[in-house]
Amino acid sequence: MKGLHIVGVSHAYGENKVLDNASLMIPAGELVCLLGSSGSGKTTLLRLAAGLERLQLGKIVIDDKIVADPEVHVPPDHRGIGLMFQDYALFPHLSIIDNVTFGLRGMAKPKAERRAMEMLGRVSMTKYAQSHPHMLSGGQQQRVAMARALAPEPKLLLLDEPFSGLDTNMRLHIREETLTVLKASGVATVMVTHDPEEAMFMADRIKILGESGRILQSGRPHDIYYHPQHGFVAKLFGLMNRFESVIVGGCVEIPLGKIRVKGLGEGRPVEVLVRPEGVILDSEGKDGPVIDVISTHLLGHDNIVRVRLSDESGAKEDEKELYVRAHHAFEPELSNRITAGVDPEYAFIFPLDDLGGMAGAGYTAWPQPHAAE
Ligand SMILES: Nc1ncnc2c1ncn2[C@@H]1O[C@H](COP(=O)(O)OP(=O)(O)OP(=O)(O)O)[C@@H](O)[C@H]1O
Ligand SMILES: [Mg+2]
Repeated sequence: MKGLHIVGVSHAYGENKVLDNASLMIPAGELVCLLGSSGSGKTTLLRLAAGLERLQLGKIVIDDKIVADPEVHVPPDHRGIGLMFQDYALFPHLSIIDNVTFGLRGMAKPKAERRAMEMLGRVSMTKYAQSHPHMLSGGQQQRVAMARALAPEPKLLLLDEPFSGLDTNMRLHIREETLTVLKASGVATVMVTHDPEEAMFMADRIKILGESGRILQSGRPHDIYYHPQHGFVAKLFGLMNRFESVIVGGCVEIPLGKIRVKGLGEGRPVEVLVRPEGVILDSEGKDGPVIDVISTHLLGHDNIVRVRLSDESGAKEDEKELYVRAHHAFEPELSNRITAGVDPEYAFIFPLDDLGGMAGAGYTAWPQPHAAE
């Protein structure tokens, strides 16, 4: 298979076990985002793939060639890899074009310069070819770093938090440009990010690395968002309303209503996580517990509304304040009695006695609930 295949990689720094049997496959042309908490081993995984770190256990294959196993270690510059790490360090004493040709040392100078200019063109930076890095903005330096990483036509591109040094607007702009350049080059890309929204925006597939050093879940952004298999994964993607309950008669009951659950035994304590879009407000106030609106925050085409359940709802104190995503036309001041319900499609149920999301091993997902009763 063309692309990167990491098979059963474990890694420890002395006593500190960082990766535990981590596997991932990234076909050519695909962009995979690796998401996980700080210290979970994301950079370590990239350094192992790049050959900057010696592999202890497992196997790394690039385009069907083993580049690392406990006996084999192909040096980094023979792996056909482009690297771009957080500080995208350009060489300050070299001009922009010389920064880009730096990785093309095997090529005759005129050819290398043609190639470098072509790459600078792709990231709209040709007119800065003779400038030096300090004359460029952060975003422009970022683009040059991308051109430099792609110039030798790597088979694989490894990006470690490449946009973290940029402000929000620049980030949005650069990540869109990066996506265009990457898709045009057809390279397999692994990008580490802390930012779940960035992962949703960029990735063909997202892999979540848990604290246990294992890949907890892997899937298309849609699957990860709508079918998280661990509480940890669900909570990574934005605000969540959390309740605790127990399974009774095949259902869980939370103050917002009852949700049917399959595959979990009677009496099992669970946590119920409801996304803000899963709390349904009814301004006619017919059914469900009454809420008070605390504040609304316009986010463009919809609102995030902070509400509080009434004392009669039966909610525990720490379960009373909820976040709701409501249509922008929602006008709470016009209503005198607003009630709340739950859309089970946005409710995720995980057993409390098996915090698999954090522990990783031995965890099984089960079908999501189908309908509230
Ligand atoms: N060269 C090293 N020597 C010893 N320990 C290291 C080394 N590099 C990383 N570690 C440790 O390995 C663990 C994982 O580090 P790593 O940098 O891979 O995490 P990360 O997921 O990239 O974190 P972050 O999101 O903060 O960048 C951490 O506990 C870290 O302290
Ligand atoms: Mg890191």
